Amino acid sequence: MNVLVTGGAGYIGSHTAVALLEAGHAVTLLDNFANSRPEAVDAVRAIAGRDATLVEGDVCDEALLDATFAAARFDAVVHFAALKAAEESVYKPLAYYRNNVGGTISLVTAMAAHGVHTIVFSSSATVYGAAATVPIAEDAPTKPINPYGRTKLLGENLLRDLQGNDAKWRVSALRYFNPIGGHPSGRLGEDPRGAPENLLPYITQVAVGRRPHLDVFGQDYPTPDGTCIRDYIHVCDLAAAHAKALAFLQGPAPGFCVHNLGTGTGYSVLEVVRAFEAATGCKVPLCMAARRPGDCAVCYADPSRANADLGWQAEHDLTRMCEDAWRWQRLNPNGFGGE
Ligand code: NAD
Ligand code: WQD
Repeated sequence: MNVLVTGGAGYIGSHTAVALLEAGHAVTLLDNFANSRPEAVDAVRAIAGRDATLVEGDVCDEALLDATFAAARFDAVVHFAALKAAEESVYKPLAYYRNNVGGTISLVTAMAAHGVHTIVFSSSATVYGAAATVPIAEDAPTKPINPYGRTKLLGENLLRDLQGNDAKWRVSALRYFNPIGGHPSGRLGEDPRGAPENLLPYITQVAVGRRPHLDVFGQDYPTPDGTCIRDYIHVCDLAAAHAKALAFLQGPAPGFCVHNLGTGTGYSVLEVVRAFEAATGCKVPLCMAARRPGDCAVCYADPSRANADLGWQAEHDLTRMCEDAWRWQRLNPNGFGGE
């Protein structure tokens, strides 16, 4: 297939681009580098040993999209391009709605105009908010607690309505749990700007000496060790799921489908720290800190629908996730080029 990957220079997009190239697809990456660097595209090409076309620009730019779709006959789009910082979204709601919802509207408008109706959409477990029960299945209520989460749910609903009105659309919404790790080559990984919001990049930056310690946010949650439990999933497992989702949409799939992407197993913050230390031999100094607003105690997936429909399941364990995250950070202490 000929696939347009928006946000393809980003963390998950770049790993997915490698997986798609390795599966034999032609890939065009569209990215404005708002949260990534061109070096990631070089790494994608080097790892896959194949070229990928790069279009530098904004997914909200309708003229650029029109020209991009006119220049290539795409079979499908994988839509990663979005802003993703939950806390920032509280302070910059307009930027999040414009970029995430506006970008999706511009994209599907261009797709429809050029007769492309197959899309895989990056959604998030964040659409569930603080779920009442775990594991979380796709039919759990959706009640996101921040603007970022609401933009993701709006994106899903927009695509659901589009498909409901026109059966030509083939839509896969993938709800990622907590992606971590990097490509086993050590050439691609998570490269956040500024201080990381997420646990694993914070741990690797402590381990590499860029930060003095990890704050453990809250030790009084109703979990065995008092710290929050999450479903961490290797980014290469996520990447593989996108190739499977594209294949699923080629078959007799429903026109709109939602799948959780997680391992189905939860680990606490302290378990992750211990696993990282055991996998890498690095010591991670800890500071016990207050709860972070908005965190729920326990969140992990029921991934059985993705297992059954897509023939996909996560293959890498937590040790492997930590090893690959550390290989990337150790070989690239300042990521793709520094803060
Ligand atoms: P990322 O920031 O590394 O990647 C997003 C990419 O999109 C970046 O390269 C950025 O430059 C690009 N981008 C942003 N706005 C753009 C625009 N208007 N036009 C063109 N490019 C634009 O983030 P990621 O972790 O790779 O996330 C990818 C997708 O997965 C996002 O949609 C995110 O909401 C979703 N997601 C991420 C996580 C996570 O924990 N990383 C979890 C669930 C869902
Ligand atoms: C995991 C656990 C923290 C940092 C976020 C987004 C969500 C989704 C995935 C995009 C929590 C604890 C963290 C630190 C810590 N992204 N922690 N010290 O919050 O589950 O989900 O990323 O869709 O929308 O909200 O992941 O990695 O931030 O935190 O103790 O320095 O680690 O409190 O319990 P989270 P996370």
